[in-house]
Amino acid sequence: MSNDPYSLAGEAAAALKAAAGLDTFDVALVMGSGWVPAADAIGRTVAEIPFTDLPGFSAPAVAGHGGRVRVVRTDAGRHALVLLGRSHLYEGHAVGSVVHGVRTAAAAGVRTVVLTNAAGGLRPETQQVGDPVLISDHINMTGVNPITGTTFLDLTEVYSKRLRELVQGVDPSLAEGVYVAFRGPTYETPAEIRMLRTLGGDLIGMSTVLEAIAAREAGLEVLGISLVTNPAAGLAGDPLDHEEVLEVGRATATRMGVLLAKVVDRL
Ligand code: HPA
Repeated sequence: MSNDPYSLAGEAAAALKAAAGLDTFDVALVMGSGWVPAADAIGRTVAEIPFTDLPGFSAPAVAGHGGRVRVVRTDAGRHALVLLGRSHLYEGHAVGSVVHGVRTAAAAGVRTVVLTNAAGGLRPETQQVGDPVLISDHINMTGVNPITGTTFLDLTEVYSKRLRELVQGVDPSLAEGVYVAFRGPTYETPAEIRMLRTLGGDLIGMSTVLEAIAAREAGLEVLGISLVTNPAAGLAGDPLDHEEVLEVGRATATRMGVLLAKVVDRL
């Protein structure tokens, strides 16, 4: 196995292609907590490869995060790589491991990546639990970056405006928002949430931003979708509960799956 993260992604891409019997893929989707059932709606499963069979992938630690790549053929004949599970900084993984799935998808030929996540809502005035929100931009508060060196990558439009408009064409009710990422694994304090509202954040989570940066570095077009699973800490009075976050994901999986299926065939 290679030490260089880009070569390692190339090795994983080769293993994926061999396991799927395909030369290239059209799109990759990274699914967040509780989104696994949504993957079923995207199309017919052609192959499923456990992370443990792919160079550089690590098995996710959290219950509710799967740990395999599903190769899906959509109704329109497109091939999607669905990453069921991702690795997070809070699991103790290095940043290179967190973005390895996206780099592998890029090395396997995809041009577009759909990053999904579960997020706390920073604007309960306008957001309902269970609503998908299109990520329009992000604030990276993880303190790390997947790129090392002098690649001064432009991040003016990380989340493609073209793709957001395409999704709004499918579902005009979808709002847009700025996603803030903390490292976790603790949920935030109410004071942190007040700070993030002041800073212009709309959604808070523990993933996505590093993957989005790595995707832009690889030249991929990025679509980000957050599922609002709870009002952020201190905004509703109740303590936050990981089980409730997962439950909202399960309850809204069908809506997300139907939306994603339509989007994937229009990309
Ligand atoms: N904070 C951070 N991550 C999350 C939240 C939250 O409130 N909800 C789901 N993921």
